[in-house]
Amino acid sequence: MKLNLRVWRQKNAETDGAMASYELDGISPDMSFLEMLDTLNEELIVSGEEPVAFDHDCREGICGACSLVINGDAHGPERTTTCQLHMRSFQDGDTIDIEPWRASAFPVIKDLVVDRTAFDRVIQAGGFITAPTGAAPEAHATPVPKPDADLAFEHAECIGCGACVAACPNGAAMLFTSAKVNHLNVLPQGAPERETRVLDMVAQMDEEGFGGCTLAGECATACPKGIPLMSITSMNKEWLRATRKSKR
Ligand code: FES
Repeated sequence: MKLNLRVWRQKNAETDGAMASYELDGISPDMSFLEMLDTLNEELIVSGEEPVAFDHDCREGICGACSLVINGDAHGPERTTTCQLHMRSFQDGDTIDIEPWRASAFPVIKDLVVDRTAFDRVIQAGGFITAPTGAAPEAHATPVPKPDADLAFEHAECIGCGACVAACPNGAAMLFTSAKVNHLNVLPQGAPERETRVLDMVAQMDEEGFGGCTLAGECATACPKGIPLMSITSMNKEWLRATRKSKR
């Protein structure tokens, strides 16, 4: 395959960026999107140019590190992570625009790499449970009803990639935050912090500068793990319940 790439290049957070054009030949349809970028970088290095900086780690769709807006879509044309996107999703001769996540709470560090530590601080605000130290508890001591276990697992699938924020017209982080809140709030192990968790995580989310949710639904459409839009509704109910309880 022969491709025309238009890639966002930005030296650092302080400088302005711009799209740069590159022609790339000999790309196999079986390559992953990141392998295609590896090929571009090999060519750039050989010609003495600076390679394109982009985030990646597991390349198996599980860590959430990869983060590219491809032709205007978070993670590109398929509902998957960028690392699991393959070049067979494109045509020979295609022009492909590659940009970093666009959100004021995710400032660009360099080229296609953005700072997602805002997510870490949201997690630190309440994404934990209180567990006594000592020997491991008996596995059957705290029974979890199957529907609750399934619901917790559905939300635990969030890999924190930030596609929801990048896809949202408001740059909101409600889908991410709701996945993390609901994951623990539906389990008995998460019950002691049920109220403080949702109040603190939502407060931290607001403090980080994410936009407000207008239920546009783009987040759930872009989410590579299929976190449902209903997750936001569940978190809103948790937040209202916690707010009422804290005012009693
Ligand atoms: S590199 Fe880990 S999910 Fe893509």
